[in-house]
Amino acid sequence: MAEKRHLLDVDDLSREDMGRILDTARSFAEVLKRPIKKVPSLRGKTVVNLFYEPSTRTRLSFEVAAKRLSADVLNFSATASSVEKGEGLKDTALTLEAMGVDAVVVRHPVAGAPWLLRQWLEAAILNAGDGMHAHPTQALLDLLTMQERLGELEGRTVAFVGDILHSRVARSGIKACRAMGMQVLAVAPPTLLPAAEIEGVEVCYDFDAVIPRCDILYMLRIQKERQKEGRFPSLEEYTHLYQLDARRLGKARPEVVVMHPGPMNRGVEIAADVAEAPHAAITAQVTAGVAIRMAVLFLLLGGSEGGEKVA
Ligand code: NCD
Repeated sequence: MAEKRHLLDVDDLSREDMGRILDTARSFAEVLKRPIKKVPSLRGKTVVNLFYEPSTRTRLSFEVAAKRLSADVLNFSATASSVEKGEGLKDTALTLEAMGVDAVVVRHPVAGAPWLLRQWLEAAILNAGDGMHAHPTQALLDLLTMQERLGELEGRTVAFVGDILHSRVARSGIKACRAMGMQVLAVAPPTLLPAAEIEGVEVCYDFDAVIPRCDILYMLRIQKERQKEGRFPSLEEYTHLYQLDARRLGKARPEVVVMHPGPMNRGVEIAADVAEAPHAAITAQVTAGVAIRMAVLFLLLGGSEGGEKVA
């Protein structure tokens, strides 16, 4: 990734790049277990979190990651700034650049916004979620979590279950899993699937039928705000057919891994007890997120892999 300056989506990355990010993240995960969790790698660099959508875990995760690397961090959230005065994305970006920032972490409701920023700025751009389009650091942290639980991923089967249509997590996650040689299932009612076929992905409407085949059950948040669009008859019916509850978990392989990007709707896509079962890797995903974001910032902002800089 040394010559790459941005992380916009996972298809910018070769399998080798992904391997390098995952290995670097593993060394940072070790740093995060130490009593003093900070390294000087990005001292003197400035990272801006430019968030035009509400976010708790992703924003905090990027902030912690940059701070653990000793970078200076600025947080810009759309409501508390001149966006209210009607400033456009470009002007905001140019203002940040004029202040000499080195990296811009952007979340935006419009798909493609990070690609626009790339054209306007010298700084490294990291996509932290654009519309329904992409969320590459989520996909990478999910791979790291899967590897921690299962080891080699090639040939493993993952099912993404739920609102795939609206999910940037699923879009980037499916690409990342396919790049690792995994079998990918998309499990959802027809109204929550994209109209076009997703390349290399097997579509299933019957969750119960596929559970025993899966190594990973990746549950997606039901975006309740979308219910007005009338894409499912009722939450009760959705829950009945697609919720991962203890009965369904009982049909899964004993070593199955349950994942969810958060925020969870307990009692909708996932039952509360399943979210806390030993199979669930949901808090491990959050921990992996900090290590992955440290790795990506480190590699994009000129660090070399491994070596004393990480130690
Ligand atoms: C997701 C997002 O915002 O895309 N959450 C996250 O990044 N942790 C998933 C979601 O909102 O359902």
